[in-house]
Amino acid sequence: MENFNFYSPTEFVFGKGRAAEAGLLVKKYGGSKVLIHYGGGSAVKSGLVGTVKKSLDDAGVKYCELGGVKPNPRDTLVYKGIDLCRAEGVDFILAVGGGSVIDSSKAIAIGVPYDGDFWDMYSGKRVEKALPVATVLTIAAAGSEGSGDSVITKEDGMLKRGAGSDLLRPRFSIMDPSLTQTLPAYQTACGATDIMAHVFERYFTNTKEVEITDRLCEAVLMTMVKETPRVIADPNNYEARANIMWAGTVAHTNLCGVGREQDWNSHGLEHELSGLYDVAHGAGLAVIMPAWMEYVHGHNVMRFCQMAARVFGCQMNFEDPEATALEGIRRFRTFLRSIGMPINFDELGAKEEDIPALVEKFGIGDGKTGGFVKLNKNDITEIYRIAAHASL
Ligand code: NZQ
Ligand code: ZN
Repeated sequence: MENFNFYSPTEFVFGKGRAAEAGLLVKKYGGSKVLIHYGGGSAVKSGLVGTVKKSLDDAGVKYCELGGVKPNPRDTLVYKGIDLCRAEGVDFILAVGGGSVIDSSKAIAIGVPYDGDFWDMYSGKRVEKALPVATVLTIAAAGSEGSGDSVITKEDGMLKRGAGSDLLRPRFSIMDPSLTQTLPAYQTACGATDIMAHVFERYFTNTKEVEITDRLCEAVLMTMVKETPRVIADPNNYEARANIMWAGTVAHTNLCGVGREQDWNSHGLEHELSGLYDVAHGAGLAVIMPAWMEYVHGHNVMRFCQMAARVFGCQMNFEDPEATALEGIRRFRTFLRSIGMPINFDELGAKEEDIPALVEKFGIGDGKTGGFVKLNKNDITEIYRIAAHASL
């Protein structure tokens, strides 16, 4: 196991009806003027924004609001948010929504105290300061409620890029699984795919002797394999929703990734897809992740066999371990299809002829990227090709 620091300062406030505590929690963490930031309307329609406002009123906390965050959140709204916060003297940002709303909130939090263009921090500059952010989560997916990351799309060129800092970890995150019951099945499935991908990015590692994190990863993956079909079949299954919601957080606070080398190439490859085609991140991952697995499995066949046997219940074939590894990947893709995810470019709405442009945007030039297997331009092209033609 490698040396590590594990820093997860967020207070997770979990369970039914907890959104009504938002006002007191903001006060506890020192907010006096809040920006309530939300998306395209689901949180208003469900009455959640109203509940949050009432709790802020009850706690005597002032607020202003900015809605309209789109999935794959845009820089243009971030600039608006920064201007609004400065004009209103906002000192605390409360995201009410999913990963996109939370990431947009984090970007605004970076931009308000920064004397320059917030995009600098999405182009590699270190985050030195940020307003405090907190969340009321409405979808189990990105894990942004516990992570120090934010991913924003620059509208000019549809360039999707990330910034990361412990300063962006939310002060608190309210997680009421019943809020996710209004999600369309497709969004639920996209979220489930993202959660599994966050684990796989950590699971495929070259670090030896990481039994505890291996087992934590497998626990999250097995939970997702069991619970996702249950919520697809019955969107109001609170217990299954609750398990998935907590799995999403456990998957991405880095609890499952400490002490081990991680990969993240599938996320990088996917961000180019959701950047170019404005598709859901989870759907892009459903197309990319099994393709990446197929391309790299030969690097450590036994690790893929471990996944196949422990997560997908495959019988180990000791005479032909590669057959077991490939069967595990096949079962993963079959699972994704069974929950309604696309598995190839056509189903996603991507085009094979765009692969050179995707590779170019990925932007590694003649270099290499990744942890588990270092990939160059040709490798990346090949993975996109496998993804383009994948079938069951
Ligand atoms: O905008 P509204 O009307 O709220 O609709 C949203 C949106 O259309 C809807 N939705 C959310 N909660 C709902 C609901 N509809 C009904 N009932 C509810 N309770 O769902 C749609 C998707 O929402 P979004 O926030 O985009 O989903 P998600 O949480 O998957 O976030 C995706 C974004 O997070 C980034 C992705 O790249 C993508 O941009 N990621 C962020 C990470 C991070 N910050 O740590 C890590 C991830 O790997 C990921 O890259
Ligand atoms: Zn993700």
